[in-house]
Amino acid sequence: MRILAIETSCDETAIALVEAKGGLDPSAGSGLQFKILKNLVASQIKIHRPYGGVVPNLAKREHLKNLPILMGEILKISNFQFLISKQIPNSKSKILNTIDLITVTIGPGLEPCLWTGINFAKELYSKLRTHNPKLKLVGISHLEGHLYSFLLSQKSQWSMVNGQWSKIFPAISLLVSGGHTILLLMKDLIHYKKLGETRDDAVGECFDKVARLLGLPYPGGPEIEKLALRQAQGRPNVIHFPRPMINQKNYDFSFSGLKTAVLYYLRDLRNNSSAADIAAAFQAAAFDVLIDKTLRAAKEYKAKSILIAGGVASNKTLQKQFKSSVKSQLSNVNFFAPTKNFCTDNAAMIAVAGYINYLQDKKHRLIAQGNLTI
Ligand code: KG4
Ligand code: ZN
Repeated sequence: MRILAIETSCDETAIALVEAKGGLDPSAGSGLQFKILKNLVASQIKIHRPYGGVVPNLAKREHLKNLPILMGEILKISNFQFLISKQIPNSKSKILNTIDLITVTIGPGLEPCLWTGINFAKELYSKLRTHNPKLKLVGISHLEGHLYSFLLSQKSQWSMVNGQWSKIFPAISLLVSGGHTILLLMKDLIHYKKLGETRDDAVGECFDKVARLLGLPYPGGPEIEKLALRQAQGRPNVIHFPRPMINQKNYDFSFSGLKTAVLYYLRDLRNNSSAADIAAAFQAAAFDVLIDKTLRAAKEYKAKSILIAGGVASNKTLQKQFKSSVKSQLSNVNFFAPTKNFCTDNAAMIAVAGYINYLQDKKHRLIAQGNLTI
């Protein structure tokens, strides 16, 4: 099945073309596999950077501008808007005839941005359906997209985890992004439940706020990572920031206190620690909590694997620390982190979640749901 996926929940406009095969029944042997034909992302970082965060109306404007451009790139044509205003498909849009399923993010996210993607998907669907009556359109949760991103491999290869369900489930999944910090238990691919989540700021949001305190540009996560790893090396142990809720038995998180601790530290700066030290010590505090709780859940639920997802999961220091903690404490547990382009927002993950929803005949209403939960 060929899937066209659209993602516009925040500040990345993304469209992907993904081939999917197989079913959900693990005993059928065919497995579930994905091959990425195109995975395009138009980043808006430069637009929002002067404001220190995402400006919803600017983001919406950029999505409106970028969607036809990306679609044109997918079709290898220069003017998609022209094509869609005329009758399609025509000879220049052969790829459009081969699409079986359109998937689009319906939430959570910024509603004006979500509507842009939904309306674009609906328009495309209604034009294409006259020529292709079997075409389907499904709305997808952005969070499910992140959750299933471990199923993605690089372009033009069928995904690697195919048929390895017995090495993966039950799994503990940690979803860490700019809007969310959620720990989930996945019994199998479609049965999952939330174990805990942040009670205030998401960890990515905390990275962004601490970066601002340190005078670093938006988005702060990659900047803090870079600073912490800078030549002289940030020394994570010269400052001790709090590890909020690390000793509580539940699986909830809290990061706003950690951000405030950095703020007070900067205000009262007494010793000769550098910005790199602060970045490294902050990262260490945040990661200790994430890893500690995730490993504790993996032990309690006898998980076969730990999966991490979302923008923060692209942090190499976090991945390294996770790997070494899993190796020393849970040597039989597998650890998976998607490659960087599948950790941060992308449309390929919306195609994967779309296919899994389609196989279950699960239907979301095609309206923007800014606060959709998992
Ligand atoms: O998943 P994502 O692209 O978008 C959301 O769904 O929110 O995540 C974006 C978040 C931002 O807060 C960004 O600062 C953070 O992920 N992030 C990172 C890194 N790369 C992105 N945080 C820490 N280290 C990174 N390398
Ligand atoms: Zn995201």
